Amino acid sequence: MGLAIALANDPPLLIADEPTSALDVVVQAQLLDLLRVCRTRRDTAILFVTHDLALVRGFADEVLVMDAGRIVERGPPGQLLAAPVHPRTQALVGARLPVRPPPPKPTEPPLLEVRNLSVDLAAGTRHRMRVLADISFDVHIGRTLAVVGGSGSGKTSLARAVLRLVEPTTGTGQFGGIDVRGLAKEPLRAWRRQAQLIFQDPGGSLDPRMSVADSLNEPMAAHGLGSSESDRAERVAALLDEVGLDATFSNRLPHTLSGGQRQRVAIARALALDPRLLICDEVVSALDTESRTQILTLLRQVQARRGVAYLFISHDLGVVRHFADDVAVLEAGRLVELGPTEAVLGAPRSSAGRALVAASTHLT
Ligand SMILES: Nc1ncnc2c1ncn2[C@@H]1O[C@H](COP(=O)(O)OP(=O)(O)OP(=O)(O)O)[C@@H](O)[C@H]1O
Ligand SMILES: [Mg+2]
Repeated sequence: MGLAIALANDPPLLIADEPTSALDVVVQAQLLDLLRVCRTRRDTAILFVTHDLALVRGFADEVLVMDAGRIVERGPPGQLLAAPVHPRTQALVGARLPVRPPPPKPTEPPLLEVRNLSVDLAAGTRHRMRVLADISFDVHIGRTLAVVGGSGSGKTSLARAVLRLVEPTTGTGQFGGIDVRGLAKEPLRAWRRQAQLIFQDPGGSLDPRMSVADSLNEPMAAHGLGSSESDRAERVAALLDEVGLDATFSNRLPHTLSGGQRQRVAIARALALDPRLLICDEVVSALDTESRTQILTLLRQVQARRGVAYLFISHDLGVVRHFADDVAVLEAGRLVELGPTEAVLGAPRSSAGRALVAASTHLT
């Protein structure tokens, strides 16, 4: 109502002071739409005052961040929200993840190139169900592609199909110039070293009877890495150090570790084989906020140090927003949207993308 009165005079400038803070998300969205219409149809300039940075994501062209009467940071919202520099902005964004340098530019050819991937699985005794349909995407060295989508949309199936843990029905996968679908059993086993999978529940991937050191040793021994026992022991120590665990963890059993520590061991175990691609399936979903930030920070350090690519599966858009360079949206086995994180999460074009973003804004 207040807005209608303000607009009745067709002003060239509209100053809106926290116009949406008392409204629910749906009405908020309607009001923002109305303001957008004014902006495009009537060329109204808008000075939009708000404490809610997430809200300006898809709305503002430029954001000024104020602290104690000063402008401490300014920039386009995508950039500002993805990599806030000033502590005040970081606090507003809620990002406890440290700012990272910009990722390397995508290079051609990509590390992983998936084309027209479809997967059918037996859905019962009689028929097969199409779980993934005609999926194409690239993953680049040193970069992170997030895969988001509702429960049952096919995220885990996609991870498994990329690794050929399930056989695709159609499609091709090129990895560093190798045709993954064409690989016979032995070369496939050798190739798998380069693409490792980490799960939500590291309890599932760590043998409960194996000490941490044995868990890290095992894949190296299986793939014939390390020239001797003592060489592998050195590698185990270096891996523990890399994931932020001191040497005393070597002899611990998984059940004596916290969730975050177990996830560090799972990461070290994946890194033991010097992979070029890590597929992370909801790896921080079971962790509390603090461990989550620690593990994400660790994954970033690993990426900066080793240049690994991440295929990062998550239903948590808050995490994806800070962590991924690009986002793919899955819906019912189809890839309905793919693009840079700011673009996809800032202004999703697919209905599935919009629904996910709406739900995540609602929660924060
Ligand atoms: N082994 C299987 N056999 C038959 N159907 C399967 C099998 N595994 C998964 N599905 C089906 O494939 C679809 C996608 O499942 P998937 O586990 O990939 O989803 P998801 O996106 O990872 O979900 P969530 O977010 O709950 O982990 C679902 O409909 C599921 O029921
Ligand atoms: Mg899953």
